[in-house]
Amino acid sequence: MKIKTIGKDVLNLHSYTTEDIHDLLNEALQLKKSPYSDLLKGKTLAMIFEKSSTRTRVSFEVGMIQLGGHAIDLNANQLQLGRGETVSDTAKVLSSYVDAILIRTTSHERVKELAENASVPVINGLCDLYHPCQALADLLTILEVKGTLEGLHVAYVGDGNNVAHSLMMACAKVGVDISVATPVGFEPNEQIVHQIKEVAEQTGSTVTITNDPIQAVTNVDVVYTDVWTSMGQEEEAEARKNIFQPYQVNAELMSYAKADATFLHCLPAHRGEEVTADVIDGVNSAVFQQAENRLHAQKAILKMLLA
Ligand code: CP
Ligand code: NVA
Repeated sequence: MKIKTIGKDVLNLHSYTTEDIHDLLNEALQLKKSPYSDLLKGKTLAMIFEKSSTRTRVSFEVGMIQLGGHAIDLNANQLQLGRGETVSDTAKVLSSYVDAILIRTTSHERVKELAENASVPVINGLCDLYHPCQALADLLTILEVKGTLEGLHVAYVGDGNNVAHSLMMACAKVGVDISVATPVGFEPNEQIVHQIKEVAEQTGSTVTITNDPIQAVTNVDVVYTDVWTSMGQEEEAEARKNIFQPYQVNAELMSYAKADATFLHCLPAHRGEEVTADVIDGVNSAVFQQAENRLHAQKAILKMLLA
């Protein structure tokens, strides 16, 4: 794998070229075929979780084991970090023990602070703005299901959140058209959209932001949604249910997409809220393949950083 532009860390996908992303996807496909090796023998990944996780936690730990290494699952409440030790001191100390640090936390600033103070690579396992490992798995899934990334159009319907930002950037990087429909006031971050549009101009793809879910999904190849209430926003959950109801991905909304349109969701899902059971459990849903692909995509990231 010849990643040219990468810095020490994986904070978001902004610094990767189109070629880098294709290299990572190809590597992930190879690792999916041959999962076990000693490439990371003796290497340790520390994983700091300041929010819940099923997929990220388990797939990173299993990924390290399959590559011959080891992962330590650190619940922030059991670290001194949870009692007020600074992020920078934590970064310096952990860097002297482990070979890479994964963090799932509240703010992107906190991820950056960890990366700036760690001498080992830092991987963003989700923050308020980004979910880069998810987006790489999303592209891998689209590539597998459709057989190509060329000429595709993805629609994201729901909250303009961390998952939306990383999906949009991933699509723009590989030239996939992306349409996003959110309620008024829940659009993706303007500054991030600006950066994504600059990338899309270079790769010749389109970025459409709208408040109209039907416009977003019409004739697309993939329909993607995420929870209406992200971790940390629980007090807004009831209000959001009303606001987001017209953005539910159901059979009627799917009928505007191509007949063979694939449904994706990063999971965890709330059936009856952002997606109906018939869609997420239907024949065109690839959500469990997508969840599995977290493992393969992240192993490509670990190999790039640590092998
Ligand atoms: N999609 C995702 O990141 O899942 P977890 O919250 O279970 O890690
Ligand atoms: N947007 C969701 C994604 C969970 C994987 C959240 O931040 O809670």
